[in-house]
Amino acid sequence: QSVRIIGAPTDYGANRRGVDMGPSAIRYAGLAEQLEAADVIPLDVGDIDAPRAEVCDPDTTPPASGNAKFLNETEAVCRRLADEVAATLTEGHLPLVLGGDHSVAIGSVRGSARDADIGTVWFDAHSDLNTPATSPSGNVHGMPLAALLGIGAFDAVEWANAPSLREENLALVGLRSVDEPEKELIANSEISVFTMSEIDQRGITAVTDDALAAATDGVDALHVSLDLDWLDPGEAPGVGTPVRGGVSYREAHAAMERVADCGLLRSLDLVEVNPVLDESNETAALATELAASALGKRIL
Ligand code: ARG
Ligand code: MN
Ligand code: MN
Ligand code: MN
Repeated sequence: QSVRIIGAPTDYGANRRGVDMGPSAIRYAGLAEQLEAADVIPLDVGDIDAPRAEVCDPDTTPPASGNAKFLNETEAVCRRLADEVAATLTEGHLPLVLGGDHSVAIGSVRGSARDADIGTVWFDAHSDLNTPATSPSGNVHGMPLAALLGIGAFDAVEWANAPSLREENLALVGLRSVDEPEKELIANSEISVFTMSEIDQRGITAVTDDALAAATDGVDALHVSLDLDWLDPGEAPGVGTPVRGGVSYREAHAAMERVADCGLLRSLDLVEVNPVLDESNETAALATELAASALGKRIL
């Protein structure tokens, strides 16, 4: 198994500068060594081109209704990333995308879905289902799932949609910050959602297995998107939108080990690492370890 590392150094989808340094921080924390310890061959194509937020105007493309900042830049990066992810798969490697803010997942999911029928598990404190009309912030990192599903104003935004991704094959794990319009959307959808309360009650292994079963039902392969704010901020302080009450270090590894065991992993994102807000790069180091577990690293 060979894994191709693709950096997507964006931060304009988030409200905090610094998440654009995520790819460097994760590499510096020893990603290649961790992957080797998981018995996979790491290949690195470097970072795709992403404009600096300082030289861009956030408001050039106000969508028909509502607010989505830097949507032009998000489009450019996600188009490039989707092509790179699809080419990586064609060449027989597993794409490992390093964000960057979570808007980059629009590109990675579209790239992964280009030549396969995929399901997706989204490990996150947030549901990332806002639309330009419902977003409290205008930050696109809170919208990638609505974009991929073509909800609201995103229905007309072709470059952001993944028409083959069915709600039935989308599972969200670890939720604890969901905006009111997102709650309503979830209630009226076929998306599988697993909150922190459910993890408290049933345990991370049972919940992850249910999420994987839903996501992979009737499809060929699995995309996993891991937002580091899924973990408790005590474990992962280096993220732009921390929320108390997340999963522990050991729960996170247990979930990634279940991902590896399901045997269908096709592509993986590690997003929202912000080394500016971190101590001793510990959040990036955690990201490298979790990637290794998802790719099959075992204690013995
Ligand atoms: N729900 C909030 C918003 O839409 C926060 C989203 C945070 N998303 C993330 N990928 N960290 O603005
Ligand atoms: Mn999040
Ligand atoms: Mn639609
Ligand atoms: Mn997210």
